[in-house]
Amino acid sequence: MLKFDVLVIGSGGAGMRAALEASRQGGVSVALMTKMFPTRSATGCAQGGINGALKNADPNDSIEKHFFDTVKGSDYLGDQDAIEFFTANAPDCIRELDYFGVPFSRDKEGRIAQRPFGGASSPRTCYSADKTGLVILHTLYEQCLKYNVKVLQEWYLLELVVDQGKLCGVVALELKTGRIVPIIAKAVVMATGGAGRMYWLRTTNPFASTGDGMAACLNAGIALKDPEFVQFHPTGLAGTGILMSEASRGEGGYLINNKGERFMQRYAPEKMELATRDLVSQAIETEIKEGRGFGGAGMSAYVQLDLRHLGREKILERLPQIRELAIAFEQVDPIEQPIPIRPSCHYSMGGIDVVDYRTCATAVEGVFAAGECSCISIHGANRLGGNSLADIVVFGKFAGKGAQACALERSFHNEGAVLEAAKAWEAKRAQALARTDGPTVASIRDRLAEAMW
Ligand code: FUM
Repeated sequence: MLKFDVLVIGSGGAGMRAALEASRQGGVSVALMTKMFPTRSATGCAQGGINGALKNADPNDSIEKHFFDTVKGSDYLGDQDAIEFFTANAPDCIRELDYFGVPFSRDKEGRIAQRPFGGASSPRTCYSADKTGLVILHTLYEQCLKYNVKVLQEWYLLELVVDQGKLCGVVALELKTGRIVPIIAKAVVMATGGAGRMYWLRTTNPFASTGDGMAACLNAGIALKDPEFVQFHPTGLAGTGILMSEASRGEGGYLINNKGERFMQRYAPEKMELATRDLVSQAIETEIKEGRGFGGAGMSAYVQLDLRHLGREKILERLPQIRELAIAFEQVDPIEQPIPIRPSCHYSMGGIDVVDYRTCATAVEGVFAAGECSCISIHGANRLGGNSLADIVVFGKFAGKGAQACALERSFHNEGAVLEAAKAWEAKRAQALARTDGPTVASIRDRLAEAMW
């Protein structure tokens, strides 16, 4: 059995920012549990940038403009109080990342560089070439280690244990040994990411984005909100769905149909390729359906993302990863050829119902949620590009604060329920092993455990 004041589950940007904040606030023991290695989390796939009205690229930008773009982008279905809180806190949270050591790209004055992104009325997306999520993840991991967050890596959440509307703890599986472990906690922050892997044909999500944290909450009686709001990113690679960042259009890339037309002229003549994602994705699918795609009108049809006019230097400086991915997975060098793309499942706007956006508390005492697994809801029915990384650092921070404050106030609750739940999992596993080739699986597991310890 393990015992922590605050247990954060999931090591993407939201989880690590939450663990860091809980630990920085002090007075509590903090553990970060993840089914993978922290710096390999889905946040590392976020390429193009993070939104905040820093006014570096446009002195006329403002928190109010970021607020309005987000409300409009959400199809007016976002929670406007929460969006106000989010946009007001985003600039400071980005500056904090800068102080933590995130290597942002810089403008000529040495300030954090900002680029245009879809649905934004000013260039407010801060970036680090096209690897923004990855560098944020690595920097937050360093900070978590610095602040003595205990990392349980390759531990898988089996169950969130709740009794009478109050958190007791969780049951987890230590993957490398096969041990089932009860973990008692005063506060748990769910930061387990999205569920994009439900879409098998094309998704930008890594294999880990399976929605298991959402499922654990639902099983424990915590509602999911807006699960039907799933975002398709307009530009996934046609063959695999791998993300071709919105930054490629932010930097000036064109979308082209089989007649050589920039077809966004028909759908969003002002914003063109930088209209909101729902609109651009629908436009691409309409072009394909009406026979203006390449490769027929079936599953493998596509349109093209053309970056050639940006020139070699800009592509190498601002979009190096896009180029590498296009070469590796479509055998196309964007410096010389257009890239075949099609909308790809990208983001779950819905998720674990958060009832207080200031602390990220759910309806169950002691349980908090932040990041893509949660629904606060600042994204409504459609998230703006660049608002996801901002979401995880703003609400990750406030969830960490909320969980730390909760852990200071509350006592451990019904520890026995967690021990019982762990026993039930052991029994379930024993049954499963007995049904199949149990002795072999069990002996391999035991030998592995011996080898590890
Ligand atoms: O296109 C992108 O770089 C993705 C960013 C996002 O989803 O926020």
